[in-house]
Amino acid sequence: MSPGPRLVVLDEADAVADHAAAHIVGKLAPKPDLVLGLPTGETPRGIYARLAGAYRTGEVSFARASSFNLDEYQGLPPDHPASYHAYMREMLFRYVDIDPARTHLPDGLASDATAEGRRYEKAIAEAGGIGLMVLGIGGNGHIGFNEPGSPFDSRTRAVRLTEATREANRRSFPEGETVPEFAITMGIATILEAREILLVATGPAKAEALAAALAGPETLRCPASVLRRHPAVTIVCDTAAAAGIRLRA
Ligand code: PGA
Repeated sequence: MSPGPRLVVLDEADAVADHAAAHIVGKLAPKPDLVLGLPTGETPRGIYARLAGAYRTGEVSFARASSFNLDEYQGLPPDHPASYHAYMREMLFRYVDIDPARTHLPDGLASDATAEGRRYEKAIAEAGGIGLMVLGIGGNGHIGFNEPGSPFDSRTRAVRLTEATREANRRSFPEGETVPEFAITMGIATILEAREILLVATGPAKAEALAAALAGPETLRCPASVLRRHPAVTIVCDTAAAAGIRLRA
């Protein structure tokens, strides 16, 4: 029986980013060929800035590392400013020595999403599987773009985004552009196969989802609740995001 997720609650978002970045550097420094699973969104921005800083000061190198992002919007070309390809280039890849050939994201333009899902799963397997999966959590409990109702045995595939997710992500899109309705995401089974998981959450908008994930029932309604099945999960959050946990526990 696994002891359950290790929970680290810190005062504020900056401390969460410090802690999460130090955690990642602490894994990558002794294992330079680590395979990272990477998230996008608001929460990881500070983490990526700190990883870039750690590279600049010579604390860590990404030269032998590989990365697999969780997801990408369907229909967005990699140079679209709201694509996750663009996000990763702008937030991390351009600042560190990672080999672009070893950075992977689902292809949002693939004409056959089923084949693209298979290709992505095969690439992860060929890299030896994900060593450290870094995750955010949606206000609705999603992990990656696995929205409520996603099967726990799901694999990389096309999914329809909920209105809540599209609304939350609207701020990243140029004025007047609509957020895509569909995305390609790693599945829940794909995420659970990572050897270790680090989930980060900040702010009051995540309090309910985090409480449901940690202290509610394991249910498809809160995809993150499945993480309690995994033997090596660390959750780093601020007090605002942790606010609901004690109430539920
Ligand atoms: P956020 O997204 O970091 O932009 O809040 C997290 C998520 O939806 O997984």
